Amino acid sequence: MKNKYDIIWLDKVDSTNDEARRRINACDNLSVVTALTQTHGRGQRGNSWSSAPGMNLMFSIVLKDLNVRAYDQFVLSEIAALSVTDFLSLHGIKAEIKWPNDIYVRKRKICGILVENSCRGEWLSSSIIGIGLNVNQRNFDVNLPNPTSIVLETEEKDELDLHECLEDFMHLFSRYIGRYLNITGGYMKLRKMYLSLLWRKGDWHAFRDLASDAEFVGKIAGLSDIGHLVVETQEGGLREFAFKEIGYIL
Ligand code: BTN
Repeated sequence: MKNKYDIIWLDKVDSTNDEARRRINACDNLSVVTALTQTHGRGQRGNSWSSAPGMNLMFSIVLKDLNVRAYDQFVLSEIAALSVTDFLSLHGIKAEIKWPNDIYVRKRKICGILVENSCRGEWLSSSIIGIGLNVNQRNFDVNLPNPTSIVLETEEKDELDLHECLEDFMHLFSRYIGRYLNITGGYMKLRKMYLSLLWRKGDWHAFRDLASDAEFVGKIAGLSDIGHLVVETQEGGLREFAFKEIGYIL
């Protein structure tokens, strides 16, 4: 049976998100652009994304003709993160979601997600979901904070087949899109699943308020409607943070 999605495999690009954006008019919904090497892999907050050539998955999914309001755009981060945690479960790895878009195994980062949306009026017109998932890499740059990979977490002796991994991932991802995106109550179900996997939820931890650069102790209480992080403070109040307004102290 033919897949519902096309996967374009490339040897080397600057960034699969940028390549997907350049190809967007020629791509169908749910097309994937993936590369063995990125010369300018991009991460969140203007960071770069580095990965040993050919060892890991680096890919971008093109979503078009979305029936999603700009107000609800966090739903795409939820779908991406949940697809990754489901994929890791297939390999016996219990992963959690570090708000908004990182996937952690205990204190180690195994995957980063970069969602780039375009809006037309109050609707999303397209989205590029870029995913960097560490699969076969065993040794990482010492400057990377706490990286891990599937082979390290499973003590796999053999390398995993990246083509197979991406097919399996896309199967899960497209199922989430079909099941929850245009279904009544779908957003609520996604939010519940996302919250159940939220890293450091419900315990007291140190955070940094990036506006004032002040450290504080807080407890993640949940998310606002639009996906901002809601944190309970020790004084008993609730504070809401957008992405780039709060940092975790690890
Ligand atoms: C982060 O953790 O900061 C997000 C990292 C996202 C990396 C992926 S790799 C594939 C896609 N192309 C990019 O340039 N970035 C994303």
